[in-house]
Amino acid sequence: GNHILSVNQFDREAIDKIFTVADSMAPYAKRQKRTEVLNGAILGNLFFEPSTRTRVSFGTAFNLLGGEVRETTGMDNSALAKGESLYDTARVLSGYSDIIAMRHPFAGSVAEFAEGSRVPVINGGDGANEHPTQALLDLFTIKRELEYHGKGIDGLHIAMIGDLRYGRTVHSLCKLLCLYKDIHFTLISPNELGMPQPIIDTVANAGHKLTITEQLEGNMDADICYQTRIQEERFPSQDEANKYRGKFRLNQDIYTKHFQSKTVIMHPLPRDSRVEANELDNDLNLNPKLAIFRQTDNGVLVRMALFALTLGVDHLVSKYERDVIW
Ligand code: CP
Repeated sequence: GNHILSVNQFDREAIDKIFTVADSMAPYAKRQKRTEVLNGAILGNLFFEPSTRTRVSFGTAFNLLGGEVRETTGMDNSALAKGESLYDTARVLSGYSDIIAMRHPFAGSVAEFAEGSRVPVINGGDGANEHPTQALLDLFTIKRELEYHGKGIDGLHIAMIGDLRYGRTVHSLCKLLCLYKDIHFTLISPNELGMPQPIIDTVANAGHKLTITEQLEGNMDADICYQTRIQEERFPSQDEANKYRGKFRLNQDIYTKHFQSKTVIMHPLPRDSRVEANELDNDLNLNPKLAIFRQTDNGVLVRMALFALTLGVDHLVSKYERDVIW
């Protein structure tokens, strides 16, 4: 099927195409132009795990292309709670939709669901495994932010901080960045929350530079500082999660000490705003290098592009656009 399950399925050519289409979606996302190219199409938006931006930006992206969205949120509200299989659920819901976006707490569950689906399925996050559309919007953001400095993605130095074990966004982003040249990955986490070995192997086998450390040290020449949340919901116990809460704070003082003024600050969000966690302090909100809300805005463009390409209407969007301004 024409599913989007893992970043492993993309090469640089595919990524370039997605980003070109995403750029072309900006006038529609800003309501400067309107298209109804997906008029009559239905997105099944299935979120069996909490989400704000992935769920709403998938829905917004589909609406902006003229389509309708049907949502199911929470395991308790679906027949999965009665023991229905993912296969049957997929078989049923794909009869009601033209495309499905899905999040689920277990690794591999979206791929299992896709086997029963008769329409394309997009992975909106499967447990600690992958979050491919987040990685694409992160990479799109990195590209845009670096263009500002006249740089491309090749030769990038990225520091990834925090829970690299359970954080699926950094898994997907690492794999995508491996498609580029001469990337320097600095991975900062306690050993117990380190990047999974298969991803480390992928980075090493692709010949990229890898620095692994437990703490922020010195002043780094990083282009990107990618902070993450401790994924408490994936730990075996709350006590275990509490051990790491607040260990990886980032605020303006820490940023100035360990990074240079060019370093772009990213985070997939949500950031844990509880005082004892405070992984991305509000005092960074006025720092022009804080790209977190540019990431969330870019998420709509990238998801519009993925819908248009997956449903084969990318070339029709400008053809059907209306002349009117919204
Ligand atoms: N980045 C991200 O996946 O956020 P949500 O959990 O709010 O969708």
